[in-house]
Amino acid sequence: MSEKTIVVIGGTSGIGFEIAKDVVAHGDRVVLTGRDATKAREVAASIGDSATGIALDISEPEGIAAQLAGIGTVNGLVLAAIERDANTVRDYNIARATRLVTLKLVGYTEVVHTLLDRLDPSPDTGIVLFGGRAKDLPYPGSVTVSTINGGVEGLTVAMALELAPIRVNALHPGIIGDSPFWAGKPVGVLTGYEARTPGGTLATMQDVVDAARFLLDNRGMSGTSIAVDRGWRIT
Ligand SMILES: NC(=O)c1ccc[n+]([C@@H]2O[C@H](COP(=O)([O-])OP(=O)(O)OC[C@H]3O[C@@H](n4cnc5c(N)ncnc54)[C@H](OP(=O)(O)O)[C@@H]3O)[C@@H](O)[C@H]2O)c1
Repeated sequence: MSEKTIVVIGGTSGIGFEIAKDVVAHGDRVVLTGRDATKAREVAASIGDSATGIALDISEPEGIAAQLAGIGTVNGLVLAAIERDANTVRDYNIARATRLVTLKLVGYTEVVHTLLDRLDPSPDTGIVLFGGRAKDLPYPGSVTVSTINGGVEGLTVAMALELAPIRVNALHPGIIGDSPFWAGKPVGVLTGYEARTPGGTLATMQDVVDAARFLLDNRGMSGTSIAVDRGWRIT
């Protein structure tokens, strides 16, 4: 089979970076994005010749089309970008909420809208959106994160219907203990989450990479939302 091009939005770190490396390891090309052009190029260079890094900020969706102008035919798209956020209803910060809702929901949608003329219209083409388990397992300060992760579920089914035969699915990770965001937390922070995970250990970035590959490749999967949490939801 000929080489595919997979675009990973938010591919300079964490889960997106691991997916970008996996794409190249499987013999395909990856275009990864981050907000800073130099960093994106350096991260791509660390993966190899089959990786390209470009700058993209999806918190200002009006600029997305111009920033993605250089991308050619796309055979798969992973939307993993996120900015960390804490917000509550009682102490609501409208600016922070507006920024994150714009980034995740409008930004993700505008990326797909922009690339539609380059996404191969085939069931071989998969789009993977990232939400997260905060959609149904909120924690203090997760009001906007829970909102956007729930929004991803609606966006997924709407896109899957409208864009078929292109397939659209979502991944909702639990706490991914070896991701940079969580791995850097003080000892003990993850203890409670581990205790409520069947088996006692958290899902890993590799688990999420494997799930993303499945959704990118499997021609039978569309309109689904998959939790990657080692069964957290059943405890
Ligand atoms: N890690 C977890 O435990 C976990 C749990 C549940 C859900 N998730 C979801 O999984 C996805 C990946 O999470 P992660 O922890 O691996 O993320 P991460 O390490 O924080 O990486 C975030 C990525 O998003 C990019 N980014 C940040 N702001 C952006 C903006 N305004 N426009 C475009 N790109 C932007 C970053 O690039 P630059 O910094 O280079 O700009 C980086 O590549 C996210 O959608 C997250 O919500 C993760």
